[in-house]
Amino acid sequence: MRIVTGSFIAFVLLMMQNSSAEIPGCDFYDTVDISKAQRFSNGSYLYEGLLIPAHLTAEYDFKLLPDDSREKVASHVRGCACQLRPCIRFCCPQYHKMKKGQCYGDMSKDELDRHDPFVNVTLSDGSVVKRHFKEDIIVQSDLAKPGCSRMYFLNHEMPGNGFSLFENGSLLRHWDNVVLPKREYCVQHLSFKDNSTRIAPHFCPLSSEPSKTWKTVAIVLSLICIVLTIIVYLYVKELRNLVGQCFICYLASLFLGYLFLVLNVWNYSSGFCVTAGFLGYFSVIAAFFWLSVISLTLWNTFSGNSSWLNGYLPENRFQTYNLYAWGMALLLTGITFIADQVVKDEKLKPRVGVGRNCWIYTGDMSVMIYFYGPMLLIIIFNIVMFVLTAIRLIKVKKEAQNFTQQRTTTQRLNLDKQTYALFLRLFIIMGLSWSLEIISFLLSKNQAWANAFIVADYFNWSQGTVIFVLFILMPRTLKLLKQRIQGTSDEVGASDEQISLQNTKIDPSGF
Ligand SMILES: *[C@@H]1O[C@H](CO)[C@@H](O)[C@H](O)[C@H]1NC(C)=O
Ligand SMILES: *[C@@H]1O[C@H](CO)[C@@H](O)[C@H](O)[C@H]1NC(C)=O
Ligand SMILES: *[C@@H]1O[C@H](CO)[C@@H](O)[C@H](O)[C@H]1NC(C)=O
Ligand SMILES: *[C@@H]1O[C@H](CO)[C@@H](O)[C@H](O)[C@H]1NC(C)=O
Repeated sequence: MRIVTGSFIAFVLLMMQNSSAEIPGCDFYDTVDISKAQRFSNGSYLYEGLLIPAHLTAEYDFKLLPDDSREKVASHVRGCACQLRPCIRFCCPQYHKMKKGQCYGDMSKDELDRHDPFVNVTLSDGSVVKRHFKEDIIVQSDLAKPGCSRMYFLNHEMPGNGFSLFENGSLLRHWDNVVLPKREYCVQHLSFKDNSTRIAPHFCPLSSEPSKTWKTVAIVLSLICIVLTIIVYLYVKELRNLVGQCFICYLASLFLGYLFLVLNVWNYSSGFCVTAGFLGYFSVIAAFFWLSVISLTLWNTFSGNSSWLNGYLPENRFQTYNLYAWGMALLLTGITFIADQVVKDEKLKPRVGVGRNCWIYTGDMSVMIYFYGPMLLIIIFNIVMFVLTAIRLIKVKKEAQNFTQQRTTTQRLNLDKQTYALFLRLFIIMGLSWSLEIISFLLSKNQAWANAFIVADYFNWSQGTVIFVLFILMPRTLKLLKQRIQGTSDEVGASDEQISLQNTKIDPSGF
């Protein structure tokens, strides 16, 4: 029975396929509707001055959508014009304009007078020629628009936004060197801010691009969690040791960084774009220097009083750290600002706030010099500190185990758990998420990897939330908070756990 049903379905499918003859060897996206063209008795058609021989024409009763599914339409004749002459793939009818990804009716007479009808076409030998879109090229305007509601366009006058249109109809996007076939892009007239109307390519957001809404949700949640964390750290005296104070500064910088990031996502900072770009840059870089201060302090704390470093650090460490972290961030911001003014080579400029991007330009490798490069150095420093601290912690744990040998197993387990939790928190804060950010940037040109690293991006935007969970929603912090609220904060150090930790010279408060 199943075989019969199967062959029946196959038969029906076969019938459906044959119900409309396709032009052999011709992609649907290389055809145009020629039913209104002049037909000669020998079967060839004259379409826009191009003679299409009979064997390159056929009846179609469907339209092929970009995902290769078929939409039924009235039967019409199509000709494989793009095999005979270069084609240009329009999104909408040829004299329509595109606005925010939608097609609008015909251009006004004024616009028709002013519009630039020329496109640069790259020939197969690599040379670029200027072509009139209507007179020199076949316009394809009845193909289905790429399947997305929001479309991006390229303005080739913006740095990094160049493109090449090939004779065979493919489009090369310069910023990520991706060749888009005709299914994935289309061109249309577009009015730019400077009043010029030009033909501009439009395409869908990258599939790896996270949705604006979820990105915003993640960042806003992070912002709220950062504020809550700062409040708890300010409220509970026991948390406000040296590391805790540095931690608050780190959180404050992170807060500002996220704030400018989310303003940029929604174009709210477009009124003060360059300023917002530099403020965002300063905040993130400051956060990084605070991170390096924290890792140094932690390492120093766990190394005990024997550390050689103590001899070099002045009495008021917090003040020194402030000077260092904010000062270095200011210095780097200054260097980037000056580079933006004096560097002549467009490709080496930091380009803060160009276009509608109120952030440092991340479209090419120049961002490695000004942003990701310094970040990478600090991350490497943090990882070294982390490894040194980890080695120290393992040693301390061994000592602690010897110490607790006579005690109950429960207590030992408790200590293990706490040490590991500390490990995890240190690692997350000392570089995991930010390393992912840089790897994500380096791999963003590769579609498959970019898809994988979208998770890393979300993790990075959720850092505030992760910090809140790891540092505030911990039993010990909650206990301190409860004690503070009840006004019984002088009991610190009373539990067994803390006694054993104190004996191993680990500062029990804060981290
Ligand atoms: C078909 O007819 C047209 C017009 O008479 C002519 O130009 C063309 O060469 C013919 N094509 C073929 C394949 O005979
Ligand atoms: C086409 O090429 C010319 C000359 O190279 C250039 O000035 C112009 O901006 C280009 N236009 C487009 C739309 O790329
Ligand atoms: C069109 O030409 C470009 C450059 O020569 C090439 O990269 C691309 O793969 C070609 N596209 C098709 C569909 O042949
Ligand atoms: C743009 O065009 C409109 C109408 O043609 C005109 O009123 C306006 O002044 C122009 N703006 C610029 C910046 O040229």
